[in-house]
Amino acid sequence: MSDLVIVSGRSNETLAENIARSLGRNLSPVVIRNFSDGEIWMKYEENIRGKDLFIVQSTNAPAENFLELLIMIDAAKRASAKRITAVIPYFAYARQDRKDQPRVSITAKLVANLLTEAGADRVITMDLHTPQIQGFFDIPMDHLYGSTVLVKKLFELRSENLAIASPDVGGIKTARTYAKVLNADLVVVDKRRPSHNVAEVMNIIGEVSGKDIIVIDDLIDTGTTFVKCSEALLNAGAKSITGVCTHAVFSGSAIEKINQSDAIKTVYVTDTFPMHWESSKIVTVSVAELFGEAIERTHNNASISSLFDIIR
Ligand code: R5P
Repeated sequence: MSDLVIVSGRSNETLAENIARSLGRNLSPVVIRNFSDGEIWMKYEENIRGKDLFIVQSTNAPAENFLELLIMIDAAKRASAKRITAVIPYFAYARQDRKDQPRVSITAKLVANLLTEAGADRVITMDLHTPQIQGFFDIPMDHLYGSTVLVKKLFELRSENLAIASPDVGGIKTARTYAKVLNADLVVVDKRRPSHNVAEVMNIIGEVSGKDIIVIDDLIDTGTTFVKCSEALLNAGAKSITGVCTHAVFSGSAIEKINQSDAIKTVYVTDTFPMHWESSKIVTVSVAELFGEAIERTHNNASISSLFDIIR
């Protein structure tokens, strides 16, 4: 009998179930409850002694989702699981990855330390805010790319006048890779952030007139960046705007902004985030099979590099 066991926290059970199903398996049962004051209690329902355990939990807000993951790792360690892999489709707190002003935290490093301290042996995640965060871990970390599944959708949008836009300078590398695969031009939007959750478009670099533009970002949070970029591109003469992002955070009035913006046609997102919105403009592409494949290969000590084959 295989010693591979997959369990889920409560942050994105649908994705976890689909990951397990893609491998022809069921999730192993766990009980997770809250005490009256909110404290989390959990228990593995089946024996996991000596098992190769994969805990699926995105760490989107509230922070209890992250704490729940730590508690699940701790319980697994104490129950003598052979190896504990934290599968974190959306890795939160990654945006604070450096001291960009005095007296602030580097939360990405803090989160990495806490996962390791709790007892995780390895981590599988997708589209970290910056890939360098991998270096914050001293345990093995496999970093998957949402583009592996998203680019397949984009092939259907092929147009003679296609351009890929990065909404900020930090996203140029990803946008350039998409542009190469789709044989499209590259556009860069020079965005500034005067304060948290506020974005201003300063300049557009590249030819946009008459182009069908795909704006690529790792995540859409308040939607400010995406909507402002899309509108600026349309005002600069773009023919159409399509959005692509891996992590559909969609906080605050993001959905209203997207729904109300005439500039935006469609936004392709993945299911790393639990679906908590309603919009006919948003199309979800599942990453369940990709994570399933990564789990199976990790379990079999097989290489996962071919999972990056479509684009890096
Ligand atoms: C920034 O560097 C990120 O890639 C996203 O562009 C940003 O976090 C999106 O945030 P919002 O949707 O709130 O503008």
